[in-house]
Amino acid sequence: KNIVILISGAGSNMQAIVRAAQQERWEQRLGARVAAVLSNRPEAPGLAWARAQGLATEVIAHQGFACREDFDAALQARIDRYAPALVVLAGFMRILTPGFVAHYAGRLVNIHPSLLPAFSGLNTHERAIAAGCKFAGATVHLVTAELDTGPILEQAVVPILPGDDAAALCARVLSQEHLIYPRAIAQLLSKM
Ligand code: GRF
Repeated sequence: KNIVILISGAGSNMQAIVRAAQQERWEQRLGARVAAVLSNRPEAPGLAWARAQGLATEVIAHQGFACREDFDAALQARIDRYAPALVVLAGFMRILTPGFVAHYAGRLVNIHPSLLPAFSGLNTHERAIAAGCKFAGATVHLVTAELDTGPILEQAVVPILPGDDAAALCARVLSQEHLIYPRAIAQLLSKM
């Protein structure tokens, strides 16, 4: 069972998943492995890390395409070369077309840095602090056509502490993301 991970940035969730896959020997336990890491941004720091791990990496720069449909079609073609059981969005900062999402129905997962359905979209930590929330968190969910919706697989909750700024809250949430994302993926793979 191949896993393809899509990133646009630091890739800390990707790292957590790759490490979990190695340590927990997903290959033996789940028959799964991270087959490739793809990015729409050539300069994504996570790509260099993946390369250094000896993982297959590919860049599909979105600027080269006339429209979202064309980019998604090219991305889909690259992904499908790995015949993935699961496609993992890990900080992949692109809105995906309904056709792309439908193609991977039930095997496309995302992590979002809020307790969905609260605070979908961007700047979640700023907005949670501004709203006076006492708790924040992260959500792993199956991807459906509408942004940041779709069946919830896992959530983690963290407190928002007095004096927190977005960076402090982001770090607290991210450390939980790194726990729940590999766990949710393993759970999903065990049912495939
Ligand atoms: C995370 O906060 C994730 O929830 C969101 O994008 C960020 C990606 O961080 N979707 P990283 O690239 O995994 O470090």
